[in-house]
Amino acid sequence: MSTRRKFLHSAALGSFGTLLTKRLAAATPQVAVTGRPVVISTWDTGLAANKGAWEVLSRNGTALDAVEAGVRITESEINCCVGLGANPDRDGHVTLDASIMDHQWNCGSVAFLERIKHPISVARRVMEKTPHVMLVGEGAQQFAIAEGFPLEPAGLSEDAKKAYKEWLKKSEYKPVINIENTKSGKEGHGPHNDLGASGPWAPQRLPNGDWNHDTIGMVAMDAAGNLSGSCTTSGMGFKMRGRLGDSPIIGAGLFVDNEVGAVTATGQGEDVIRICGSHSVVEYMRQGLSPENACKAAVEKIARIKKEKAKEIQVAFIAINKKGEVGAYALQKGFSYAIKNNSEEKMVEVKSFLP
Ligand code: GLY
Repeated sequence: MSTRRKFLHSAALGSFGTLLTKRLAAATPQVAVTGRPVVISTWDTGLAANKGAWEVLSRNGTALDAVEAGVRITESEINCCVGLGANPDRDGHVTLDASIMDHQWNCGSVAFLERIKHPISVARRVMEKTPHVMLVGEGAQQFAIAEGFPLEPAGLSEDAKKAYKEWLKKSEYKPVINIENTKSGKEGHGPHNDLGASGPWAPQRLPNGDWNHDTIGMVAMDAAGNLSGSCTTSGMGFKMRGRLGDSPIIGAGLFVDNEVGAVTATGQGEDVIRICGSHSVVEYMRQGLSPENACKAAVEKIARIKKEKAKEIQVAFIAINKKGEVGAYALQKGFSYAIKNNSEEKMVEVKSFLP
């Protein structure tokens, strides 16, 4: 297990380990969770993020405040899949993307943002303090600094440095699937290492033994019944400089329609973008599909488009509808998401299109 992986493992599990491992082991069937407030988020990093969101929701706070507070926790993790400690692009720079959307069609996002610890909060400022929806690159950084966000030192986390050094040995431009799973499978829900896929986008281990992974997406309904969502990412490790995925694109990585539901996506952003994934899932729910079936419909569409190449990528969606029902669906097995409401706090293993 790499140092990075060990850190992630112990940070994620810690003294909570035994309990969490039991939860993960038990988290096989998908369940209908209803009632509000409720928060769901992608991958096992979502457990800690949900706790942060819950501190807001349980005090009758807004879903918007909750989804910002929740993913900030993940952004703060030093050697995590999200934020400044994540793997860099192929030129050695960490570039971050994030988006946020509230219950009134207000939305904001930042992309290609460097040296700012909390892109999700900058995205919220874009939403609240500018006439725009999206700021990118240097302009986004300038705006963040003007808003009082500290400019963090340039450089990589220790584990990202190691991973990058390894990558540089071959410097192959082989974008790796956005696995986003920090686990090897030993913990019960990371089976990507036996996918058997091939090709340039195939899931594969990074040279340091870690998996490429990146995003946390979170959607929540507050006690008042309002929906909001957030999504934050370092994007694909060793990506081309300037590459953006779905996460900062409203309608792709995140969409909230307070009349219908809220959705966020994870996985290979390019394929989420090409179907306006999160928006599509909302529209499927508007047509009457359950959150799970709506996510499934979007995944099936991507699978149809990709044809035989579908096995080379991962995409997944998580969704909440206006009744507070939640659901998710993935292209590949191995995707899980975290749920928290008044009665439950758990990981849910998600059904997949491919076996
Ligand atoms: N889903 C995150 C990305 O593709 O960047």
